[in-house]
Amino acid sequence: MKKAPSSPDSARLVTLIPGDGIGPEVISAAVAVIEKSGVRLRWDEQLAGMAAVRHVGNPVPDALIKSLRRTGVALKGPLETRVGEGYRSINVYLRKTFNLYANLRPVQSFKGVHTPFRDVNLVVVRENTEDLYAGLEHEITPGVVESIKVITSRASRRIARFAFEYARREGRSCVTAIHKANIMKLSDGLFLKCAREVSSDFPEIRYDEQIVDAACMRLVSDPQAFDVLLLENLYGDIVSDLCAGLVGGLGVVPGANYGDKGAIFEAVHGTAPDIAGKGLANPIAAILSGAMLLEYLGHHQAARRIRDATGMVLQSGETLTRDLGGSATTRQITDAIIAALPARASSAADRA
Ligand code: NAI
Repeated sequence: MKKAPSSPDSARLVTLIPGDGIGPEVISAAVAVIEKSGVRLRWDEQLAGMAAVRHVGNPVPDALIKSLRRTGVALKGPLETRVGEGYRSINVYLRKTFNLYANLRPVQSFKGVHTPFRDVNLVVVRENTEDLYAGLEHEITPGVVESIKVITSRASRRIARFAFEYARREGRSCVTAIHKANIMKLSDGLFLKCAREVSSDFPEIRYDEQIVDAACMRLVSDPQAFDVLLLENLYGDIVSDLCAGLVGGLGVVPGANYGDKGAIFEAVHGTAPDIAGKGLANPIAAILSGAMLLEYLGHHQAARRIRDATGMVLQSGETLTRDLGGSATTRQITDAIIAALPARASSAADRA
């Protein structure tokens, strides 16, 4: 996967993966908003997951991999992964294949979205390539299975450095490593040791550690106490859904998977089979993931315009989807965000 140089004069090619379930609905909303933001992109649409199984009999078609290698960047919808059966997660496969080691999920309160908390503003940084997600499971004997948790110092240092560099760049003040090293003394102990070592290179950023169970309790009682959360893969998966619940749910939290040579942008949520195909999905998480993609490509002002327009629509409260207490459809809230987009800047000014 290579990070092609982006040029303001020619539209950048981006892989587009509509995905399964509500994926096509929310991804087409995100594309519509990006197109109205004034940024010119070319989309290379590719199938993955169940959609690809249905069309070409393979959840990870070669064309998808070729496209990702060529573009180095993708906007992706969720992919179905069956529970306890079927093929291994395609998300995990893509993250490992392209070494997208850092999963970043900004979790922020929105005015107009009613939750028990105000002013939540934290970022989940999740290690994306190892831990129990390595998928090393086997049956020792009937009734006894073993699942191996892999933690390496290389990946732990790399994700800790990513979290601290992110904190430094974004002017954030504290990184909290979340762990269970009281029980998993070797694996989580190694993760913590690496985080501590890396923290010494960032003296201006406070470093803190919390055991994952206590951190969950604190997150649902005093979420404003957190800034950047640094977690292994599995804790990061669980805690990021918990954090989404603090600010209005899975419909509003975007995400990105970064590597040194490319990135895939996708919402935290899954395929939402209970509402798929009904036009009810909240597209905001996908739209804000699209804004993160624009940031990555250097279109900072367009990304800000999308975030501002989304904030305005949420604050007005007139056009909210069902998950946020309203009755608007995916299409209606997308149109409202497009209508709220401020006038475009020129392409050159946009990249300033
Ligand atoms: P889910 O996130 O799909 O749904 C959980 C609940 O949140 C459901 O009630 C759903 O209706 C609601 N929800 C999620 N997104 C929403 C949105 N944009 N607007 C309104 N409501 C929304 O999680 P679940 O049910 O555990 O997983 C379903 C499938 O998605 C599974 O196959 C799972 O493996 C897959 N999945 C894929 C992910 C990815 O591709 N990145 C991430 C998480 C799950």
